[in-house]
Amino acid sequence: MKRLLLLSVLAFSLLGYAQSLPIYLDESKPMEARINDALSRMTLEEKVAMCHAQSKFSSRGVPSLGIPDNWMSDGPHGIRAEVKWDEWNQAGWTNDSCMAFPALTRLAASWNPEMSLLYGKSIGAEARYRNKNVLLGPGVNIYRTPLNGRNFEYLGEDPYLSSRMVIPYIQGVQSNGVAACVKHFALNNQEVDRHEVNVTVSDRALYEIYLPAFKAAVTEGHAWAIMGSYNKYKNQWCCQNQYTLQDILRKEWNFDGVVVSDWGGVNNTMEAATRGLDMEFGTWTNGLTEGYSNAYDNYFLANSFLNLLRTNKLNEDIVNQKVRNILRLCFRTTMNSHRPFGEFASKAHGDAARKIAEDGIVLLQNRGDVLPFNPDKVKKVAVIGENAIRMMTVGGGSSSLKVRYEISPLQGISQRLSGKAEVIYARGYKGELKGGQDGINTDAGLVENRSESELAAEAVKVAKEADAVIFIGGLNKNDHQDCEGVDRESYGLPYGQDALISQLAKVNKNLAVVIISGNAVAMPWVKEVPSIVESWYLGSEAGNAIAATLFGDVNPSGKLPFTFPVRLEDNCANFYGPEAYPGVNKEEKYAEDIFVGYRWNEIKKITPLFAFGHGLSYTKFKYGKLTADHSTMNSDGSITFSIDITNIGSRTGSEVVQLYISDLKCSLPRPVKELKAFDKVSLNPGETKTVHFTINKDALSFFDAAKHAWVAEPGMFKAHAAAASDDVRSSVEFQLK
Ligand code: GLC
Repeated sequence: MKRLLLLSVLAFSLLGYAQSLPIYLDESKPMEARINDALSRMTLEEKVAMCHAQSKFSSRGVPSLGIPDNWMSDGPHGIRAEVKWDEWNQAGWTNDSCMAFPALTRLAASWNPEMSLLYGKSIGAEARYRNKNVLLGPGVNIYRTPLNGRNFEYLGEDPYLSSRMVIPYIQGVQSNGVAACVKHFALNNQEVDRHEVNVTVSDRALYEIYLPAFKAAVTEGHAWAIMGSYNKYKNQWCCQNQYTLQDILRKEWNFDGVVVSDWGGVNNTMEAATRGLDMEFGTWTNGLTEGYSNAYDNYFLANSFLNLLRTNKLNEDIVNQKVRNILRLCFRTTMNSHRPFGEFASKAHGDAARKIAEDGIVLLQNRGDVLPFNPDKVKKVAVIGENAIRMMTVGGGSSSLKVRYEISPLQGISQRLSGKAEVIYARGYKGELKGGQDGINTDAGLVENRSESELAAEAVKVAKEADAVIFIGGLNKNDHQDCEGVDRESYGLPYGQDALISQLAKVNKNLAVVIISGNAVAMPWVKEVPSIVESWYLGSEAGNAIAATLFGDVNPSGKLPFTFPVRLEDNCANFYGPEAYPGVNKEEKYAEDIFVGYRWNEIKKITPLFAFGHGLSYTKFKYGKLTADHSTMNSDGSITFSIDITNIGSRTGSEVVQLYISDLKCSLPRPVKELKAFDKVSLNPGETKTVHFTINKDALSFFDAAKHAWVAEPGMFKAHAAAASDDVRSSVEFQLK
């Protein structure tokens, strides 16, 4: 009886509490009701304060309602170290050394959405642990030129691959109660003049090439935030752009998240207020550079915005709309009491980083099966090249990290061969010292006084005496390499690497060249070198992933997410001259239109150095005959293709089977073929799996700018099953009635 009495008292008190709980705090209430309730309790000043930064990476919550501040953090590959309140400089914390995951080109090269989900979950947990409720990533700008300094942060040249790979990353991040902030929306495909360049592109190319990954992020990934880009489109800055932020993002895609500016991307109060921006960050007000306390009051969406509202020059609905989006962000993240607590630089995250890294290494060439080296047979291994020892998690701009650890390729190889073979290192070449970034010195151990010829001579000598030679070079995160804010100025490898590679090839045929880069590079020595690996920026587990691949613990299964042209002028954006890239007088025309990447190579019949989708394995795969379940698209607008894949080699491996579609007759020019499905299958020796692809009319459609609609024209189409865009194994025709 007493227990019953006690329980009933408890129940009533809880009920009473629940009834007294304001709606905005009651998580059982619908989101929109909570938002309206919170909004009704806010002053105009509180509303405006939410719309602009209060520090370098935070904006004000609503203290009077117990709604916490919003904390943003870079970047797409790991959680950036804490900086001082309104500076880029490090705060000097000792508990913010993170796990560095591979760069996103590497994730794309895995062609494995499972890796993307693992990636998002892991990095989202790191952000959650560091109490950041918005992760400033992923970046999904299309790879249009191999000179773009930030391609390493993005998912390659193909809209379909980028679209499929970005969705799980977002879902993974947001499963931690942290918003993914997809960037940079839109048409930010270079770093030269990024704050000014006005991009002119056809509607068709915009919708078929540059928007799909953002659309997938919003409509399928349900991203809670998106970042406007610095550049202009239709002469409006993309952080305050009625076309991208209102017509497309809100009206066509029904985006219900927040629009965040890039740091310093806002240029005008009225435009920012009325053209779709919600939150302003990083503005260079006169106070900010000196760190004055009133700096943030000078933001475009601060006092000047407040004054326009107070004097009714702007309707309060304008600010209410922004605050609704921001409150929705808060209720999805900081105000969500069920979200997990995160995890930081843990062993599990190290394992995840390594798994993702190993799943995306691309074996470009392997003549004579030089790779994998046999760790039980080699006795003396020469490791040559500065990229074997250079830190790659620091530098490159806003994606730079302070990491718990970074295993260099030399460390990874030495650990793998310890007790088995002698490893001799020779620098081979030297790059410029960067002096580090964000207070982290990257030059330790890189100071080198010997001349290039001395370094090369030493490397050749070491190579001559070794059983196996591993050259580790490529680009790095310095300016005019793979780095934000500047583009590369040439397509070739820097620091005399080409000549050195040729010399090494002359003295030792047992040579593997490992390129660490986020961009394609020229390879004049491609015929002289038996084995070539594209190994991207790998993060904390770099050395382990490279060693595991070179010595056969892992069978490489990555495929290129972008084309490697033989020479720069073979590339779509670099074919037409400066008005197409990098622009003339800040005006740039995407003259290649929809023909980007392999679409360009195939329509122009230009043979690439290595094709989009190319990647070899230590085993071999046989493709059967591609069949369709019907000769015409079914009445429900779908058709299913099937093909048997067999591992005819001697070791387990994974193959990315790609499905491309050709429209054999169309009223508008179309690419020779376009990627419309892919599947990564793991096969044991001798094993056969049947891969099925079901596509619908969307996969046959092109964007008709005149109708402003996607159109699939009836007629004959062809489906191609391929191991790479230049390696079609079997095709089948079918009809759309
Ligand atoms: C930078 C970058 C953006 C980054 C932001 C904050 O300029 O363009 O990607 O998230 O500023 O560092």
